[in-house]
Amino acid sequence: MPFTIVRNDITKLSADAIVNAANSSLLGGGGVDGAIHRAAGPELLKECMTLGGCPTGQAKLTKGYDMDCKYIIHTVGPVWRGGDNGEPELLRACYDNSLSLALENGCESVAFPLISSGVYGYPKDKAVRVAVSAFADFLAEHEMDITLVIFDRDSFAAGSSLIADIRQYIDDAYAKEHDDRDRRAFMQSQAFMGNAAAMSAPTETNKPRKPLFPSISFKSARRKEAAPMANLELCEERAEQSLEDMLSATDESFSQALLRLIDERGLTDVQTYKKANIDRKLFSKIRSDVNYKPKKQTAVAFAIALELSLPETEALLGKAGFALSGSLKFDLIIRYFIERGIYDVFQINEALFAFDQTLIGI
Ligand code: APR
Repeated sequence: MPFTIVRNDITKLSADAIVNAANSSLLGGGGVDGAIHRAAGPELLKECMTLGGCPTGQAKLTKGYDMDCKYIIHTVGPVWRGGDNGEPELLRACYDNSLSLALENGCESVAFPLISSGVYGYPKDKAVRVAVSAFADFLAEHEMDITLVIFDRDSFAAGSSLIADIRQYIDDAYAKEHDDRDRRAFMQSQAFMGNAAAMSAPTETNKPRKPLFPSISFKSARRKEAAPMANLELCEERAEQSLEDMLSATDESFSQALLRLIDERGLTDVQTYKKANIDRKLFSKIRSDVNYKPKKQTAVAFAIALELSLPETEALLGKAGFALSGSLKFDLIIRYFIERGIYDVFQINEALFAFDQTLIGI
């Protein structure tokens, strides 16, 4: 997946280049800087001593030594001073300059910590936004696997109004799901009681009363209780058919529907797989295999890249045998973004990561 977020200690990762959140002396320190120097060994400090320091926003490259990487890229983030002293621009420069160095040195993969969000005090949710937009802009032009490594997830989304809004959306959906379940149970009990009352009412003749819950009445109660459900199912079925029709009259495969939608939206293949956070090799596999069965997060990623509405998304997922439920957290977060017309796969992945869900793309 061109862009992913993981929760880990960056010194445990393997990549062509690992980025260090250093200070301008480049002579080591605490936090991720200290961890990388410890993991790389004393040779790293020796090379750093030859570099003559590094200004804020710039980046310098050394060998990886005992770390599982070819290179370590040292960049110096800004200290947070309220946000009006050029901090966002300097932080963005850290990512841009580090990515340029990785590209110039033939790296195919690079791992970043969340620069400046520790000792330097940059608010984490703001720091993530700067990082992710730098990655999105870079990946629109280049091929590289970029991993953002988050060390302490719990503060990852703290303070983010978007995450708070999504949390409320999920809670409301759960509450609605709960109410619907209660309502259905209530309707069933009413149907059931209604039937029982009919059975136990005094009869004109002295015929013996029918047993209280004869199987037939139970069935009829079920049928009665089923009546609203049956109508509901009928409507849902009709809705689904129209959804299916929305996409195609023929019974297309997922791959065929995807390629047709790309053409209908006037997108190129490259635009589509980049917007979907899908790597080129996987896309060519899907393109060449008419019966390709994607993972759900891949199918969803293409729905986002194509900016499909909810019904169109449901229909495209249906072609791969998936649906968007009203209760799974992953599905609710996808619904949240589509309902608001937000089709930024990077922003959606930030939210999915914050809720410990599978990211979209692959
Ligand atoms: N792996 C991944 N991320 C880590 C690790 C680790 N082993 N250790 C810390 N982090 C995270 C922190 O949780 C924070 O989110 O890296 C982010 C950056 O924190 P710092 O390392 O404190 O870096 P920064 O905020 O840029 O401050 C740089 O701190 O360590 C000193 O010498 C460094 O003076 C410089 C300053």
